[in-house]
Amino acid sequence: MTRMIERWFPCQEVSEASSMGWGTGNVEASLFPWFAKRPLAQAKAAVVCSLLPWPDDPTEQAELQALVRRSLVGTGSGKATYDEAHGELVEALAKAHPDGARLLDPFSGRGMIPVEAARLGVQTWGLDNSPVATLGGTLLIDYPMRDWSGEPDLPFTGYTRSHLGIRLLDDVSFLIELTAQRHEDAMDAVYPTVEGRRPWGYLWAITLPCQECGRRFPLVGSLALRHPIERTGDLGQSFEVLVDRDRSEFTIRVHDGPPRGAATLATPPGQSKHSSRGKLATCPFCEHPHPKSLCERLAREGLGTDVLLVVGEGGGDDGKHFRAPTTQELQAAHLATAALAEEPEFAPGLSARPSELIPEGNTWTVQPSVFGARNYGDLCNDRQTLNFVRLCRIVNEIGRELLAGGVSPDYSAALTGYLASGVARKIRRATRGAALQVSIDTRGPRHRIGVHDIFGSSESSISFSWDYFEAGLGEGPGTWRSVAGDTVTVLRRQVNRAPGRPARAERGSAVTLPFRDDYLTAVVTDPPYDSMIDYADASDLFYVWIKRALVTTHPDLALIAGPDNLQDKSEEIIVKKGGAGVNDHRTQSFYDTMLTRAFREAARAVVDDGVVTIVFGHGDPDVWHRLLSAIREAGLVLTGSWPAQTERGGTTGSANIVTTLTLCCRPAPLGREPGRLSDVDAEVKAEIESRRPLWESAGLALTDQLMASVGPAMEVVGRYSEVRDKTGEPVDLDRYLPLARRLVEEAADIQIDSLPLGTFDARTRFALFWAKVNGRAVAAGSEARWQRLAADLEDDDTTGLLTKVKKGVRFAFASESGAESEVGGSSSTIDVALAVARAGKSVASVAGVLASTERTEDSFVWAAMKELSRFVPEADPDGDVWTWVVRNQSAISGASRNVQAAVVREEHEREDAGVQRSIFEGDL
Ligand SMILES: C[S@@+](CC[C@H](N)C(=O)[O-])C[C@H]1O[C@@H](n2cnc3c(N)ncnc32)[C@H](O)[C@@H]1O
Repeated sequence: MTRMIERWFPCQEVSEASSMGWGTGNVEASLFPWFAKRPLAQAKAAVVCSLLPWPDDPTEQAELQALVRRSLVGTGSGKATYDEAHGELVEALAKAHPDGARLLDPFSGRGMIPVEAARLGVQTWGLDNSPVATLGGTLLIDYPMRDWSGEPDLPFTGYTRSHLGIRLLDDVSFLIELTAQRHEDAMDAVYPTVEGRRPWGYLWAITLPCQECGRRFPLVGSLALRHPIERTGDLGQSFEVLVDRDRSEFTIRVHDGPPRGAATLATPPGQSKHSSRGKLATCPFCEHPHPKSLCERLAREGLGTDVLLVVGEGGGDDGKHFRAPTTQELQAAHLATAALAEEPEFAPGLSARPSELIPEGNTWTVQPSVFGARNYGDLCNDRQTLNFVRLCRIVNEIGRELLAGGVSPDYSAALTGYLASGVARKIRRATRGAALQVSIDTRGPRHRIGVHDIFGSSESSISFSWDYFEAGLGEGPGTWRSVAGDTVTVLRRQVNRAPGRPARAERGSAVTLPFRDDYLTAVVTDPPYDSMIDYADASDLFYVWIKRALVTTHPDLALIAGPDNLQDKSEEIIVKKGGAGVNDHRTQSFYDTMLTRAFREAARAVVDDGVVTIVFGHGDPDVWHRLLSAIREAGLVLTGSWPAQTERGGTTGSANIVTTLTLCCRPAPLGREPGRLSDVDAEVKAEIESRRPLWESAGLALTDQLMASVGPAMEVVGRYSEVRDKTGEPVDLDRYLPLARRLVEEAADIQIDSLPLGTFDARTRFALFWAKVNGRAVAAGSEARWQRLAADLEDDDTTGLLTKVKKGVRFAFASESGAESEVGGSSSTIDVALAVARAGKSVASVAGVLASTERTEDSFVWAAMKELSRFVPEADPDGDVWTWVVRNQSAISGASRNVQAAVVREEHEREDAGVQRSIFEGDL
C-alpha cells in the first residue's frame, strides 16, 4: 500500500499550525522539562500521513487530503483545536488498517509524536534512552488516557473523591496542595514569615576574597530589582552595596529608583559584552579589578561563599517589592546547613544531598563545573538543597502512603510522577544558574519580574550566575505552588482531549527494538541531531532529584543507572560537545554507526509495506550527508521528503526560519539495478523541477527550497543499488546534495536585471545569489558552505564576499572586502561593483573605477549594481551608492569614457614621445 506521505504532505498547513495555538505543542512541552521539542502539528501530520493510504482514485485522494488539512488548520472559520476532525480520522485509519495500526517512535523524548498517534487510537510505543525522558513521556502519552475510576479513595485526611470532575486531574491537584502544606511545615524554620507574610524569594550572590585587600565582596551583575515606569509613577527599586572599610564589612541597602552606582561585576568600558574575556569583578572596598579567569579559579579553589542580599515579596508581578533581609531571616538562612547535614539517606546508598559526580568533559553542558561544582549537590546553596531534599522526601512519603492505602502501584506511580514533574520544573528555576529576571512588558506597561530558566537561551546548557534567585514558600514564580500549579493546567488540557488509547513509554535503545520482524505499521521519529544537544548530560540534574523523589513508586529509575549512578549513556546516540578531550565514546563515528543501526532496526521491525518516517532539521551539509548515508546503509530508501517551517532559528546560529524535513523511507526493494550517472542526474533534475510548483504553493522561500531539494535528489538515487559513472565506478552520495541545490537555483531562473544569473562569472553568481536570498541578514555559516558546494567553489574563491559575525555570516560591506580592493581589467563583476561602492557618491571616483577596469559599458556590472541596491535594505551604505550610481548612469558613463579617452590619449602621447626619443637616440 502506498502511504499518503509518499505522495503528499500538508507542508503549508504544518508550517501554519506549528507557529501558533495547539500545533506548537508549547503546552505539552511545559508538562516536563525536555529538549528539542517537535511541534504537535508536525507530529500529527507525520503520524497521519505515514498511516493513511494514498488511494488510486483522484477523488478519494482529494477527500483524504482535505481531511488531513482540516485536522490541522480547521475549516477556515475559527482556528483548529486539538483533535480537530478526530472522528473522521479515526474512521479513515480503521478503514486503512482493519486490524489496527501499530506505531513506534524509537527516539520519543517527551512523547510529542506518540501522543498524537495515541490520541487517534493507534497502538503506540515511545522508546527513549533516557529514563528522565521516558518518565516525561509517560506523563503525556500514557497516564492521561487511562481510566483510573476503579482506584480506591486516596488515604489522606481531607480527601474527597472526585465524582463530577476527572479523577486523575482532581487527585493530582489534591496532592500538589498536600505537598505544598507538608513542605511549608517542613521548611518553616528556614524560610520564616515576616510580619505574618511569606516572602516570595531571595536574591543571593557569591562572595570572593579580594586579591588586593583580602576583604570579601559579592559579585553582582545588576543592581536593578524593579525598573521604573514613568507612566504609572512607579520609581522602581534597586539596591546598593555599601562598604565599611574600617570594619571590612559590606551591607546592602534597597532604595527606590534606578541603580545609584555600578554593579561589582561589569563589562569593562570599550569591551563588547559578548567578548569571551567576560566581565570584570571590582572590589567595592579597594577598586581592585578581578578578571573572569581569576574569579573562576578562586571559585574552583572553593573560596566562594553564598550570601543573602535581598528579599522579594508580593504575589502578582505588579505587586513585587524588595527589601533588605531581617536579622532573623539572615540567621534562618544559615540554619539550613546544619539541618541538611542531619538529613538521612533516601535509601541505602542514596544520600540526601546528591553526591553523584558531574562527569568530566561537561564544562559546556553543566557550566557550574567551571566554577568548582564537582557533584550535582554542588549546584545549589545549602538552603536550596534542603528545600529539594525535603520536597523529594515528601513526594516519596506520599508514594509510600498511597501504596500502603491500597492504591495500585500504577496509579501511585502516576500521581507521584506528576509531583516529580513539579520537582523537575522547580529545579529548572533554581540552583545558582537561575538569575532574577527584571524587565518591563511595554504593552502594559507592566513589570515582568520572575526567575530565569537555568538553560537560558542555549536550550540545553545549565548556566551559572554569580548572583541568583532562590524561590521561597510564598507566592511567585519558581515556588512549588507556581510550578506545580502549571502541571495542573497542562494536565487539564490533556484529560480533556479526545479519549485515545494509552501508549507505552519505555526506556530502551533504538538499536535493539523489543519487537519481532514485520510487526509495526510505521515508525515515525525525530532522532538526535548530531551534536546539538547532550540529552543525558543536560538532564542528569533532573535525574538525581527525581530518582530520590520516586524511589518507592518508580524504583527502576535508580536501578537502571549507569556505573556513575547517573543515566546510562553507553548507547546514547549523540556527538558529545567537548567530548573529544576526555575520550568520550560519543564521537562522530559512534553517532554514525549507531544511527545506522537504529534505522536498520526500524527497517526490520516495520511490515514489508511499512514506512519509516524521519523528521530532521540541520543546517550543516556534513550532518545531512551523514544522515542520508545512515539511511542508505540501513537498507532504507527515501520515498518522500517534505519541508515545513517549524521553528525559528537562533540557537543554531541561523537568522532564518529553520526548515525541517519530514523524510519518508521504505525498506529498500530487493534486486535494485545500478543506475547510469547521466540518467540519474536527468531524473534528479526532472524530479526537482516537478517539486518546485508544490514548494511555491506551500509558501517556501528560495532558501527553504534549497534545503528541501535534498529529499527528491535522494529519492531518485535510492531507486538504484548504486550510481555508476562512465567508467563504471560508483559515485559518492556527496555529489547529489550540491547538485540538488544547483538545480533549484537553476530552476528558479533568477534574472539579474534581465540577464540570467547563470551568465555571470562564478564569484559574482555566488555573491548575487547570496545577496538575493539573505540581503544583509545574518545566516548560518553552514549556509555559505552549502552554497559554495553547489557552486563548486573553494573557500578562497569567495574571500571578501562574506563577513563572519556573531551567530553566522553576512554579505560583506564594500568597506570590509579589503583583499579585493585592488581591481583591474580581469576583476570579477562583483569586485568592480564593490569597488564602485567604496568609491562613494563621486562621479569622478566612480568613473575612475569603471575606466580603470574597462567596464564603462559593461551591462553585467550595471545589472549587478542595480539588483544589489535592491537586495540590501534601505539606508544601506553600499546600496545608497549603487542606487545613486545607477540613477546617474549616463553622467558617470560619460565621465568614465572621458577618463578612458584621456588615458588612451596619454598612452599615445607617451608612445609618440618614445618614438621621438628613439629617433633622437638613434641619431646619436
Ligand atoms: C530529538 S530528541 C526527540 C524529541 C522528541 N521528539 C520530543 O519532541 O520530545 C531525540 C531523543 O533521542 C534520545 N536518544 C538518544 N540516543 C538514543 C538511543 N540509543 N535510543 C533511544 N533514544 C535515544 C534522546 O534521549 C532524545 O530524547
